[in-house]
Amino acid sequence: MEEQSLPQNTKKRMLSGIKPSGDMTLGSYLGAIRNWKDRALDFDCYYFIADLHAITVRQDPALLRKRSLNQLAQYIACGLDPEKNVLFMQSHVHQHAELGWVLNCYTMFGELSRMTQFKDKSAKNAENINGGLFTYPSLMAADILLYQADYVPVGEDQKQHIELTRDIAKRFNGLYSDTFKLPEPYIPKVGARIMSLSNPEEKMSKSDNGDTGCVLMMDSPDDIMRCFKRAITDSESCVRFDAENKKGVSNLMTIYSAVSGKSYAQIESDFAGRGYGDFKRETGEAVVELLRPIREQAQRLLADKAYLQSVCESGARNAAFIAEKTLRKVYKKVGFLPR
Ligand code: TRP
Repeated sequence: MEEQSLPQNTKKRMLSGIKPSGDMTLGSYLGAIRNWKDRALDFDCYYFIADLHAITVRQDPALLRKRSLNQLAQYIACGLDPEKNVLFMQSHVHQHAELGWVLNCYTMFGELSRMTQFKDKSAKNAENINGGLFTYPSLMAADILLYQADYVPVGEDQKQHIELTRDIAKRFNGLYSDTFKLPEPYIPKVGARIMSLSNPEEKMSKSDNGDTGCVLMMDSPDDIMRCFKRAITDSESCVRFDAENKKGVSNLMTIYSAVSGKSYAQIESDFAGRGYGDFKRETGEAVVELLRPIREQAQRLLADKAYLQSVCESGARNAAFIAEKTLRKVYKKVGFLPR
């Protein structure tokens, strides 16, 4: 992309929120996160841990703190350099909650009722359908609009929220003159699509946790090897790519290829005449070596709380600088008295 050669201040702005689950998977790393470090070449990037959003479902406070920090450390270890990206905690920038409130008053009950994520989540959390779960999308709109973001990288499941964000922004702009930039969803380069090792019909995800289908970035080499040893294959005993009939083996080949850079044809010839045992072991070993430096770096970072603290502080300071400008405009436009 040409943007690389443009001076810093002409870069388009990109923003994304990450829920603090604390458990990054091999699937999300190979599928997406490993490409994130290069985005800073082309975009002015803002990433935050969405802790305000996290409490829309009940959280254990100590665990939430731990996960937020783990998540931050893991993203830095994956190459998101805090010198080149603005990394922060959502709750550290109070403007999110403030603009979230204002935008609640410009978001219709009917719009929020139609959000599929709300319907899904309230079906799953029938005992705790709270107001925050309902107004989650207007807080998300605030996250985005505060920074006048051009692009928001999101998966399919979040597109409806971006659409709503644009509708809210248009409504506000229409009432009070131009205030917010209309953001666009950014569809990232598709990385490898990694399936569960124990059930290759399903995406590798944290819900697999506990069984051996899901490899976590922070898993020990032993745990990783165990996952690969138990990976589901088939009875043919031939390493051959066939996404229809050999889902397990094909998934392992996708992983091996993503990690080693080798083509499927190369992998097939490397393992010709050898059993699945070798193939699973070597795939596991390749993953262990890929993840080792990332895990070790994350551990070093987690041992240095003062450093992580300083990342959060400078991130929040940089973010608040932009966010406050937008919030001040909004407060003025809706008619609040100046402080
Ligand atoms: N809702 C997003 C998710 O579930 C997380 C999120 C919160 C977000 N605020 C955001 C993503 C702003 C992009 C922009 O994954």
